[in-house]
Amino acid sequence: MSAALEWSAYTDPSLQALEREGIFARAWQYVGHFAELGQGAGYVAGRVGDIPVVVTRDRTGLLRAFLNVCRHRGSVLAAGAAARETLQCPYHAWTYGLDGALRSAPRSDREAGFDCEGISLRPASVGAWGPFLFVNPDPDAAPLAEVLGDLPGLVAEAGVDIDELRHHARAESTVEANWKLVAENFLECYHCAVAHPGFSALVDVSPDAYELALGDAFSSQFGPVRENGSGLDTEGEVARSQFHFLWPNTMINIFPGRTNFSIGPVLPAGPERTERFLDYFFGSEAEEGWIEELLEFDGQVGAEDKVLVENVQRGVATGLIERGRLLPESERLIVDFQRRVQARASRRRSSRPSSRWSLRQLSKRSRGKAPLRSASRTAQPGSLSCEQSPKRQVEANAATSSNVCSRPWETSQSCSSRRPGVSSTSPPPGSGSSSRWLVVCRPRPSLAISATGITVPPASWFTIVDFPTPDEPSSTTVRCPAR
Ligand code: FES
Ligand SMILES: [Fe+2]
Repeated sequence: MSAALEWSAYTDPSLQALEREGIFARAWQYVGHFAELGQGAGYVAGRVGDIPVVVTRDRTGLLRAFLNVCRHRGSVLAAGAAARETLQCPYHAWTYGLDGALRSAPRSDREAGFDCEGISLRPASVGAWGPFLFVNPDPDAAPLAEVLGDLPGLVAEAGVDIDELRHHARAESTVEANWKLVAENFLECYHCAVAHPGFSALVDVSPDAYELALGDAFSSQFGPVRENGSGLDTEGEVARSQFHFLWPNTMINIFPGRTNFSIGPVLPAGPERTERFLDYFFGSEAEEGWIEELLEFDGQVGAEDKVLVENVQRGVATGLIERGRLLPESERLIVDFQRRVQARASRRRSSRPSSRWSLRQLSKRSRGKAPLRSASRTAQPGSLSCEQSPKRQVEANAATSSNVCSRPWETSQSCSSRRPGVSSTSPPPGSGSSSRWLVVCRPRPSLAISATGITVPPASWFTIVDFPTPDEPSSTTVRCPAR
């Protein structure tokens, strides 16, 4: 069994900013579809995580995206969708073009030195996949197509031609639970046989038939139709169900039967509340009666999931149990999801020396416990001292060890080039070529970290946590011999 994310991660309000910065501010997320933009110039407002964004399309058809935040005093700017050439703030009527540039600000001509020139909405990245619009708040994000990778191919293999889809309806809902619990519920079908009798009567959810697959940026589940499956007429283009999860929060469903496709995000709306919507699309051959049948079928599954997830929220919110367990095989998509969540927390931590080690440490801090000291990037100029009690060190290791390998490494030969008290001029052994490594002393104080290397005190243990890739932390435990 694998150790799961600490349950405090599902209730702690202090994690909201961390997840916004480390997860939602740097990932592609579904925000809506082209039809919302109308025929010509227009905009559609949406959210990625809890970040308001707006997608615009100008007369030439050029798509752009921005944070949907007025540069005057920060009001959310646009709401809904409209065929318009400008975006006007509802607070003081600052007006922006669809290119994000500030066009006018009432009374600004009476203000000496005020110039609209140079004031613009903060850009974000926008991408389209068929009729689907995605936004990444990072203006320098890798292109959407790169991140989608094989996903369009898998959808095509299912028998769905996304360019033929037409939007049918949007279903909006709320779940009284943390967004990560909603995501995790989507990422396993271990519960299906128990909790979804209707779904399980149609789809073979046995572990030998129901397939889980991990991609770079998304995970997939493939569920074949049972022999003599019941509950939905499965005549049509799609022979096998597909359920995809694009990190960090976009879900895609394809059911067996006529051409169908639904897509939507889970959006944090507080530590214990999630808002979500699902846009349903169908092929032209899907008749109204079948569409209603599918919506009812999926609605039943959704209602069952809401009860399940809200039950979990009530359980984890007790605060009296540290964490649960994950089944490494049946719940491996959740293992991957939680690994990503923790890695993104680490990324922010490593760029901000004063921030804490992980979701776990953040949770402790918010509950008023003593902060963990130390941790820094070696790339930072100057030196930082590392002071930790053994107990704290154990906690620090626990915070990272669920997703890292810890290889004992203790030879005087390997350590000789970094003899106690001598500064290393290169990354420590085991840290690979990456410049993004963190060093934690164990258990003794005064491991000095500087731009040029580390100074190792006699007989000290320390752990190197390496990030060869953003998602793949690994660690090496090192002991330098006493002099
Ligand atoms: S906050 Fe937008 S115009 Fe004042
Ligand atoms: Fe479910």
